[in-house]
Amino acid sequence: MPEPQQISTAKRWLLRARAGLREASWTLGAAVFVVVALMAARRIGLVEGALAAFLVVLAALLAPRRRAPLADDPKSQAETLSTQLDAILSGLPDPVLVLDRRGAITGFNAHARAALGEIRIGEPVSFSLRIPEVLEAVRGAGVSGAPQTVLYVERVPVERWREAHVAATRLVEGEPKAIVISLRDLTEQRRSERMRGDFVANASHELRTPLASLLGFIETLQGPARNDPAAREKFLEIMRAQANRMSRLIDDLLSLSRIELKAHVRPRDVVDLASLVRGVADALAPLARERGVELDLSAARAEVHVRGDRDELIRVAENLIENAIKYGQSGKRVEVGVEDAADGPRLVVRDFGPGVAPEHLPRLTERFYRVDVAESRDKGGTGLGLALVKHILQRHGGRLTIESAAGAGATFTAVLRRANVAKPDPKLLKRAS
Ligand SMILES: Nc1ncnc2c1ncn2[C@@H]1O[C@H](COP(=O)(O)OP(=O)(O)OP(=O)(O)O)[C@@H](O)[C@H]1O
Ligand SMILES: [Mg+2]
Repeated sequence: MPEPQQISTAKRWLLRARAGLREASWTLGAAVFVVVALMAARRIGLVEGALAAFLVVLAALLAPRRRAPLADDPKSQAETLSTQLDAILSGLPDPVLVLDRRGAITGFNAHARAALGEIRIGEPVSFSLRIPEVLEAVRGAGVSGAPQTVLYVERVPVERWREAHVAATRLVEGEPKAIVISLRDLTEQRRSERMRGDFVANASHELRTPLASLLGFIETLQGPARNDPAAREKFLEIMRAQANRMSRLIDDLLSLSRIELKAHVRPRDVVDLASLVRGVADALAPLARERGVELDLSAARAEVHVRGDRDELIRVAENLIENAIKYGQSGKRVEVGVEDAADGPRLVVRDFGPGVAPEHLPRLTERFYRVDVAESRDKGGTGLGLALVKHILQRHGGRLTIESAAGAGATFTAVLRRANVAKPDPKLLKRAS
């Protein structure tokens, strides 16, 4: 960092002298003219002339400096202050209101208007900010001068948490104090705190359930079933399933946090979506057979290039097709299609099962959200699949749409970004061979 410039006393004097001479330049010019004229008329000699010029310059240097108009003119001082106040208010990131000591609005910024709607100068603050606790703090600040912070929540039209900081401050020396209210929007912070709390509670609950079952079986195996080989085999099988569930849950949680960490980095690889989906459908064919579901694949024969991370896109296809088989089992058929649509390549997975009722649709991609928790658990689900799908698609610059009506099946569509891959020129290929 550069050193702050130090101005020496001598230099300061020099600067002041220069400013004094500049200020008195007209007077000095006139005086020099008179002295030269007197000398020319031989009314005074060279020595007297030089002395007179020296005295005039000395007087110019010692004469008191003219003050800035601000201190002399209260009107222009008030105007300057108001301009400065406007500039400060408009530069602040939060809504701010300035009141006189009676609580009438004397200034506000654009953020305040955006947060509170219509605001008029001169009106009482209670017309714009109808929060009794804040108005009480304004009265208190006017009386005691002590700053106060008030936390309040607005419920209409949407829930919004705000913190109002109310302080009395003197803007002009000798004038009564003004009251400044600054508002801070804490909605996002509150929402993420609540989500974090819910998430920890959900994750602990999901881990505790299989753990409790494992501990129960261990106790049974050490006690009553100690010498029962048939029970031992059965219980060990259940224990393996529960342990697998725990390990899947931890894997999914880790995948989610890894994807969140690189949320801002767009994948750059080029992936053929058609062959990727064919591979996933082949891998899930045994599950479909086991559940009596016909898996109908209509992936484009030609390659469909998307920008993406291969492993993450496999997870998307796996989750959507597996869900359709598991939850749409009663429809007995699942259609999987890869299309190169105008707004981007897409994977469409459609089932003919019970579908999803409209009230559940907006929440399906939340972590741990399940329409029927017991059914999902029975099917080995953790409730993280669609949350993973959503985050992966967001990172890919794509999106997930869900269309469904209760009893009419469900269609999940993952839209991705097309990768324009230059096709090799056949003439060049021929020449090369
Ligand atoms: N095709 C579908 N038809 C009906 N309901 C579905 C369908 N797909 C998902 N759901 C509902 O959405 C919920 C959330 O799905 P998600 O994939 O996130 O979790 P999961 O399948 O229960 O667990 P996981 O994917 O971790 O195995 C499911 O529990 C189910 O209730
Ligand atoms: Mg799932």
